Order: sequence, then C-alpha cells, then structure tokens
Amino acid sequence: MPALTLSLPPQIYLALLALGVKHGDKVITNGFTFTALPSTIIHAGASPVLVQANENFTMNVEDLKLKIAANPDCKVMILSHFRGKLSDCDAIRDICDEHGILMVEDCAHGMGCTWNGEQAGKVGDIAVFSCQSDKVVNAGEGGFLATNNAEWASQCVYWSGACASRQPRLPGLYSTIFQRNSLTALMRRRGAL
Ligand SMILES: Cc1ncc(COP(=O)(O)O)c(C=O)c1O
Repeated sequence: MPALTLSLPPQIYLALLALGVKHGDKVITNGFTFTALPSTIIHAGASPVLVQANENFTMNVEDLKLKIAANPDCKVMILSHFRGKLSDCDAIRDICDEHGILMVEDCAHGMGCTWNGEQAGKVGDIAVFSCQSDKVVNAGEGGFLATNNAEWASQCVYWSGACASRQPRLPGLYSTIFQRNSLTALMRRRGAL
C-alpha cells in the first residue's frame, strides 16, 4: 500500500515515526549517501550512526557489525541503495533480524535494481521511492512509500495528508500536489499510463 509524499525526506521521516523512532534514539545508515538521510534522522529527533562504504559505495557489512556492537540500543536502520548499487541485502537483513533491527530501504536510486532476482524495495520493512526529476521514474517532484504492514501503511497515509480527522500525533504534511505527481509516476511505472 503506497503513501504518497512530497519527496524522500518526508517519507523517511514518516517511516521512522511508524517504526517507533523517538527523541534520543539512534538510527544506523550508510556513511556514503545523500545528505538528506542523516539530516532527516536528526529532524526526527534521533542520532545517525554512520556505516562505512565499500569501494563501490555499498554498505560495508563488517563495519555494520562493529557499529551495531558499539550501539546495541539501535533498533532501526536505513539502507540506502546509493547510485543504483545494491548492498549485500541478504547479509544485512540477517544481521538486522538477529539484532531486532527494523529496516527502512531507501530506493531513491534503486528502482528497477535487483538482488538475487528480487526487486529493490523487498528487503526493507518499509521501502521509500523518490520521483524527483533526476530519478529513474520521475514526476518532477514527489515520492511514495511502500510496506506490507497495514498499520504502518495507514499511519503513513494519514500523516502524509492533513491529519484533520483524528487526534493527530504530528501535524500533517499535506503534500497534495506532489501526491498527484507521485501517483502519475507510480502509474507510469506500473504501465497504466
Ligand atoms: C540516495 C538518495 N536518497 C534520497 C534522495 C532524495 O530524494 P528526493 O529528491 O525525492 O528528496 C536522494 C536525492 O537525490 C538520493 O540521492
């Protein structure tokens, strides 16, 4: 179920909130990726824990193990597929499962990329996609978020709107124009337009 948002930082923000990230928490992410990832972690009130990159920009699994060992209270990570290079998704998912870490998958550069035959977006608990103008499928601006968890999905859909109808946990992002852009891009991706 997709939640449509302005651009990637709000998607990551919503995903972190849905996964229960609170002020003072730590969130692990790639040390080599777009600056908006650590910035958004900070805007969510948490601290980024940065993992070193391999020479091809992917996440270094050995350094990930070291960072988790040094930060055992870390319960969420963002795995970013920077420049279309997919990290060792199986190893990273196994490590996350072993330590009870939930994963947001940043597919801004990963749309259409595969890992062992699986499309990027399937390894994370929540996957975020950008439709900004220099991405593979674009709508000028916008993006969407996908998850198989119905509760997280409905929270993110609600928060990406006006948050007017129920007791809000945060002010709604209300990105309606960009939602329409994102929907156009999503339908193009699915071959509906
Ligand atoms: C890896 C990565 N993630 C996320 C983003 C942000 O996407 P958006 O432009 O939709 O904010 C970018 C931007 O280029 C990016 O490079």
